[in-house]
Amino acid sequence: MGTVYKYKILPNIMARYISKFTVMFVILCTFGFFFLDFYGKSKFLDSCTTKKVHARQFLASKSEVELTQDEKNNLSEEIERKKEIERKITIVRAEAEHLAKSRQKQLVQSRWGRYNRYGVWNEHMSSKDILPRLQVVKKSYQSMNKYKVKFQGKPGQLCTPQELLCAIKNKVNMSTLVRADLPQNASSWSQYLPIKTLQEEIKSLGKCAVVSSAGSIKYSSLGQEIDAHDAVLRFNAAPTRGHQDDVGTKTTFRLLNSQLVSRPELKFFEDPLYKEGTLLMWDPSQYQADLDQWHRNPDYMFFERYSTYRRKNPDQMFYVLNPQAAWQLWDIIQQNSPEDIHPGPPSSGFLGILLMMNLCNQVDVYEFLPSRRQTDFCHYYEIYQDRACTLGAYHPLMYEKNLVKKLNLGDDNSIYHFGKVTVPGLRGLQC
Ligand SMILES: *[C@@H]1O[C@H](CO)[C@@H](O)[C@H](O)[C@H]1NC(C)=O
Ligand SMILES: *[C@@H]1O[C@H](CO)[C@@H](O)[C@H](O)[C@H]1NC(C)=O
Ligand SMILES: *[C@@H]1O[C@H](CO)[C@@H](O)[C@H](O)[C@H]1NC(C)=O
Repeated sequence: MGTVYKYKILPNIMARYISKFTVMFVILCTFGFFFLDFYGKSKFLDSCTTKKVHARQFLASKSEVELTQDEKNNLSEEIERKKEIERKITIVRAEAEHLAKSRQKQLVQSRWGRYNRYGVWNEHMSSKDILPRLQVVKKSYQSMNKYKVKFQGKPGQLCTPQELLCAIKNKVNMSTLVRADLPQNASSWSQYLPIKTLQEEIKSLGKCAVVSSAGSIKYSSLGQEIDAHDAVLRFNAAPTRGHQDDVGTKTTFRLLNSQLVSRPELKFFEDPLYKEGTLLMWDPSQYQADLDQWHRNPDYMFFERYSTYRRKNPDQMFYVLNPQAAWQLWDIIQQNSPEDIHPGPPSSGFLGILLMMNLCNQVDVYEFLPSRRQTDFCHYYEIYQDRACTLGAYHPLMYEKNLVKKLNLGDDNSIYHFGKVTVPGLRGLQC
């Protein structure tokens, strides 16, 4: 009998203790889980999590486990609190991920503001990516609007390289001025214009090079490669002497701005630099002005000095670009940009590229898009630094570069190592 009693009593006692232990174990595990999970250490508690599920089942099935109302309330409060924490963690995680992604995007985009030694030009550069100082300068040019720019088209309308090339071919008249283009009362200087346009004079060239004056062409050793082209275009006061290794020796064309021709202190008459090759000059008109309006109101009064130079150097060809071309080109740069571009005429560099695209079958452009040698030095032949020389302040240079990047037939490697971009000639283009 004693044993029978024992056998009957023992399970009862055990059951009571086990159920009490289970309840305590479950409660301890649940609280411990919340505590550790709060500090992000839930990994250690896999065994406890299963017990926690049991606790929930206990509550749901209203089992014989005796919890006071207080305990029950506390337990469900804890569960609710845990759910809330989990929900918040999910939100915070999603936010952190989003932030990390946008930060990465920002870094790529502002690469040209800060990390420009480590990449190539990004064709989506915008005013957000430039220094605050240059943003202010851009805004002040916009409020001045010296050239009375009033864009009527749609920004960001031209998208593909093909669309851009055809717009350039059909809408930009890069021909040079001849006497007949100007009103009679301009003849005192227009009589010195060449009889034929440059395009008529030069039927077609093969491979051409456009050599930017950027500081980054220094130490490039590109001289031989540049000289191997059929024709080489240089800008303004850019010398070859003393820089042959980097920029070569050949000068077929030199594109000048009207300021250089007009201001005597810039020594256009005296410097032997300007006696080599064919000269071209450009002077911006007001936006959409016709030739007569331009002639009455040029940017620089270059007429007299142009005439004098021509009289003194009758054998050197010296053309003047159609001033309307600058704004026709400006419209296309604006059509390629989703935001408002600088309301100043395109840079000499970009006009030079366009000119050569009109004359040559293929154009290699050096250091217009900066290479890994990118620097704030404005010119390879001068010690003068300004970030504006790369990104533009007066000219919409940044947006010109976006466009050229889009037209590039070469690869990023060539840009990175040689600052070299290759664009097609316009003659063979089917539009
Ligand atoms: C329930 O929680 C409150 C504080 O949140 C505490 O004061 C109380 O003692 C708890 N009750 C039980 C039965 O654990
Ligand atoms: C291009 O401009 C020149 C003036 O430089 C003008 O004579 C010529 O007619 C223009 N061509 C077109 C197609 O508009
Ligand atoms: C030149 O002649 C045009 C008419 O052909 C006239 O509109 C313009 O005002 C004249 N310019 C000057 C500077 O006299």
